[in-house]
Amino acid sequence: MEIPSRSWQRIYADEKFSWLWPPAYEPNSDPPELEQILALLAPQPGARILDLACGLGWLTIPLALRGFQVTGYDLSDAMLTRARESAKQADAQIEWLRGDMRSLPAGWTATFDSVTLTLSEFGCFDDESDNQQVLAEVMRVLKSGGRFLLDIVVNRDELILNGDRNSSFDGGGFFIVDKGSLDILSGIFSREFQWYRQGRRHEETWQIRAYTAPEVTRMLEKAGFRESTVSRNYAGDSLTRDSVGMVFLAQK
Ligand SMILES: C[S@@+](CC[C@H](N)C(=O)[O-])C[C@H]1O[C@@H](n2cnc3c(N)ncnc32)[C@H](O)[C@@H]1O
Repeated sequence: MEIPSRSWQRIYADEKFSWLWPPAYEPNSDPPELEQILALLAPQPGARILDLACGLGWLTIPLALRGFQVTGYDLSDAMLTRARESAKQADAQIEWLRGDMRSLPAGWTATFDSVTLTLSEFGCFDDESDNQQVLAEVMRVLKSGGRFLLDIVVNRDELILNGDRNSSFDGGGFFIVDKGSLDILSGIFSREFQWYRQGRRHEETWQIRAYTAPEVTRMLEKAGFRESTVSRNYAGDSLTRDSVGMVFLAQK
């Protein structure tokens, strides 16, 4: 397989980084957030849902177990292989597809009642037009009136407020140093990981363009969404400057 140039793609493409995939991604048949997510999407019984950048199937599998027709789409074979195994164990019927979220299958136009992009690194593409293209593709594959749940793991306002981050943790058999910083000129948030395992030192950098809430709202408008709201979490609590992530719900 071709090695993607961006670090966040390498991180998910290779099992050697699996220590970086938080346990939060692991599927559990009934995650506590599921009811809140269903309240936001309000899908009809049997609705078609696309879980974009589905990872290990954290949301894909519980949605399928609730009887929705779910498609899990992700760029990483490593992620999809694990997701398929978990779905099999849970007896969840899911269509899995490998691909890039900037270019969804041509035949999917106006196919889905809802699209989810959770725990997402929205802003991961260097070129801003690629980030916008993800929204254009979501818009295309949604049915009229369909809903899009976009959960972004960073909020530029919070990064400005709380500044750079330095942390370290003992992963059990390896030790990780994590340094995060925001470049205010480019708006790029970088995390430099160094980890020590079996006496060897490794390094990886993870980067994302950190957007503010009004910037994402404008991007959703530009893609053609007729309305959108933003909260700090799936429960719909108000977004504040110290919200680490942002949850958008947009309607076609
Ligand atoms: C942080 S994980 C989130 C996984 C999942 N949505 C969840 O909530 O647990 C990010 C996922 O995005 C996937 N990804 C990264 N770039 C992608 C792209 N260009 N197209 C599709 N998936 C991508 C990665 O392979 C990874 O599985």
